[in-house]
This record gives sequence, structure tokens and C-alpha cells, in this order.
Amino acid sequence: MRRFKLLFLDRGSPVSLQAQLTSQIKELIRTGQLAAGDRLPSSRDLAADLRISRNTVVYTYERLISEGYLDSRLRSRIYVADTAPELQRAARERGRHRQAVRVPATVPIAGGSTAPMPFRPCQPDVQLFPLAMWNRLRSRALRTTNRGLLHYNSAAVLGLRELRENLAAYLRESRGVRCEWWQVAITSGSQQALYLLSRLLLKPGDRVYMEDPGYQGAAKAWQVAGADIQYLPVGSEGVTIPHLAEEPGKLMYVTPSRQFPTGVSLSLSRRLALVNGAADSGTWIVEDDYDSEFRYEAAPLPSLQNLDVSGRVIYIGTFSKLLFPALRLGYAVLPVPLVEDFQALKSTVEDHGPMIDQATLAAFLDTGAFYSHIRRCRRAYAERQRAFLDGIQRGGLPLDFRYTDGGMNLAGFLPPEYQDVEASARLRRAGLDVPALSSYSGRAADAHANHNAEPRTDHGLVFGFTAFTPERIRLGVEMVLRTGLA
Ligand SMILES: Cc1ncc(COP(=O)(O)O)c(C=O)c1O
Repeated sequence: MRRFKLLFLDRGSPVSLQAQLTSQIKELIRTGQLAAGDRLPSSRDLAADLRISRNTVVYTYERLISEGYLDSRLRSRIYVADTAPELQRAARERGRHRQAVRVPATVPIAGGSTAPMPFRPCQPDVQLFPLAMWNRLRSRALRTTNRGLLHYNSAAVLGLRELRENLAAYLRESRGVRCEWWQVAITSGSQQALYLLSRLLLKPGDRVYMEDPGYQGAAKAWQVAGADIQYLPVGSEGVTIPHLAEEPGKLMYVTPSRQFPTGVSLSLSRRLALVNGAADSGTWIVEDDYDSEFRYEAAPLPSLQNLDVSGRVIYIGTFSKLLFPALRLGYAVLPVPLVEDFQALKSTVEDHGPMIDQATLAAFLDTGAFYSHIRRCRRAYAERQRAFLDGIQRGGLPLDFRYTDGGMNLAGFLPPEYQDVEASARLRRAGLDVPALSSYSGRAADAHANHNAEPRTDHGLVFGFTAFTPERIRLGVEMVLRTGLA
């Protein structure tokens, strides 16, 4: 037992007692203080000696046995395994090799996740989410399906049927989306839907139209397919509609309910021009309806897909904003001819998405908890938007907030003599997260000249306000005013 007197467990350490004990026994083997064939104390004796629970020792021994360091022999006595010194030498080699390999610069090394800083755009307030209710529905789903949700379920490659049905009903009713439940594909966030659509619909060199400024998550998806992206300026009626008859595109990505990141809605005449142009030219339209529920003074606008009778609009959405981003559940409503191919492609990425979360979400929709949650968020976010605008507008900064009827963000346009990237960097140094509008632009700097008589929409700052309490917003606004923009 003398050697085991060397063991010291630090109860104040964030490392568990079991992990400490495991690594210290390995260390005794590494330094030769324990050799192959040496006998270890019984779990009862060692636990008493170290004043820890016997289970901690039992689990430590079990782990070291399964890793090949210890051996349990006759009458459950525990010995150092013959292979242990060899294993320790190999572990040392691996450690040396790990130290020699550098983490590539773009691989994030921070662990865990952190709450966003003011005024990071597109962040829901996860404190408003009814977690207790969610957990109850989750437990109920597990109980009533008698562990059925734990199996592989390749029949659900496009999602759990109950969720697709409940979601289709919601989209038909509240967003005017024309669809049957089997056209709804559940994806891992809307980002996966964008990626799969790019793989399904695009070949290298195909022309894709994007709003500018616009959602760079979508641009990334088109880029991996080698698409030729054409950026279209955004004005007071929304994105400029291209002449699809003369210059057809394979696909056009739009955020018509609330253009990201400016917040302008696409006018009815442009919507009609777009769906008609797409029908005539055979262009696919990807409508990203990411936060339209958050319209504070009126009902949400109906979807663009609702106007489309030719089946060219692929409608995508996400639960990242309505519920919480880590859920990673989004969806695409597919025109009928795309359903089978999308399903086949998706099955190459995953058998199916997380079943337990999908069943919980189906119940969340079914019980009405979803609708109460949206109402609660809408009330809170409307108040936060007012708090932000009241504060910032009193400060006399040269920010022009033109589109304020809803959403999670407010774009403040800047006059040309200000540098938005510089203003954003200045705010960042003060601990604020306020991206420059131009950082959402894919066009080259020299292409930013006025395309028409309208003021530019790609020059300014984007403030998200939804994830922060009114008090935090007040403090954040004070900080913006104190820091200034130049
Ligand atoms: C325009 C737009 N679409 C979609 C999303 C959400 O994507 P996901 O469902 O992958 O979280 C965001 C998030 O910021 C967004 O801004």
C-alpha cells in the first residue's frame, strides 16, 4: 500500500476524483512505481484510505481494465496488466506527437458556448424558452413511444412524420405555404437545406442570383457547388429583380419577408415579377423565411411561395430563431418533383435527424406551447426594439434606421463619409458585437457605386436586439454613444 500513499486527490479541482485517480495510477505505472504483475489494493481499502466512495475506485479500476492497464484475475483481485508499461510508452509517444502538431489557425479552440454580446444579430433570447415544458414533452415522448425513438429510422430520412404534419399545418395556416406534409423535409438547421439544394440543383459555373448585402451562409453553400454568383443590389422595394428571360439563372436566393440584413420587405410588384420571371425561365427560387414571425405591428406577410403556381419556389425556414439555435432543426418545403431526389441525397449525409428532438418539437407544436412561446417572444422583442430605437435615436448618431416593422435586427445606414468596417471595429474594442453592413456584401468594393437613384443599403451597422433585456440594451446603447462611430 505504500505506493498508494503517493496518491493525492484534490477535492477543489474541476477535474473529477475518478479522472484524477485514473491519471495518477497511470502515472505510477509510467514511472515504474507499479510494475506488471503488481497487485492493487481492494477497492474497499483504497476508497477508505483516500476517503472517497468505493464506486469511484470501482469505476476507475473498470476503466483501467478496459483500457488494458489493469487485469482482474483470481477472486477479483486486481493486478497491473503485462501490457501496461507498453501502453504507457505508446501514450507518451502520442502525447509527444500531439504537442508537435499545431492547431490550424481557422479551427476554433474555445470550448463550450457563450451568450452573445450586445448587439450580436439574429440571436433569440434563450432565457425566454420554456425549458421545463420542453423537458416534460421530451420525457413524455420517450415514455409513450416505449424507446421506439432510440432505433435507427431510415424511413424518417426527411423527418418524423408527426413533426412534418404539424409543421405543414402551421406553414399553411400562418405563412400561406401551399404544401402537403410529405413535401416538408426536416434538416439540420436551414443551413443543411441550403447545402443539399446546392448539391442537388447546381453544377459548376451555374448562375446564382443573391441579394447584396445578403446572407453569407447561403453564399457559402452556392460557392461549394462552384456557382457563378451574381449579386443584386437591395433598395426600398427589396432586391432588384433580374431580367430572367434574358439572363436566366439556375437559382435565385431571396429573403422576401424581411431582407437579411437590411430588414426591407420585398414589394408585391417585385414578388410578382420574380415568380413570373422564374416560371418563364425555369429558375429555382429559394425563399428563406428565417424570422418572419417577428413582425411587431401587423400580422406576418404571406410567403412568396404562396404566390407561386408553377412550383419553382423552394421555401426554407428554421427553428433557430423561434426556439433556440443549438436545436439545429430547420426545414425545406420542396416542390413535388424535387422530393425524391432530395431524400436520396439527404440519405447520403445522414440516416435521419435526431428523433427525440423531432418528437419533442412535434408535441411542442401540437400542444400549442409553440404558439404561446412565439407570442411571448414577440411581446418581449417589440419592447426591446423600442428600447433600442428610443435610446439610440436620442443619441444623435448619423444612423438611419429605415426598416423597423419587425425582425431581430435593425440596420442603421451610415452616410458615405463614415467607414462602417472601422466603426464596427471601434465598437468591438469597446466589447460590442455590431457587424458592418458591408461585411454581408459579396460584391467587389468598386461595384458599390449607386446602381440607381436610391441610397446605398450596404453601408452601415447591424444591431441585433432580441437576446438582450431592456436594461442590457440601455447599457449597450450608452456604450455605443460613449464610443462613437469615428
Ligand atoms: C438569413 C438567415 N437564414 C437562416 C439562418 C439560420 O440558419 P440555421 O437554421 O442554419 O441556424 C440565419 C441565421 O442567422 C439567417 O440570418
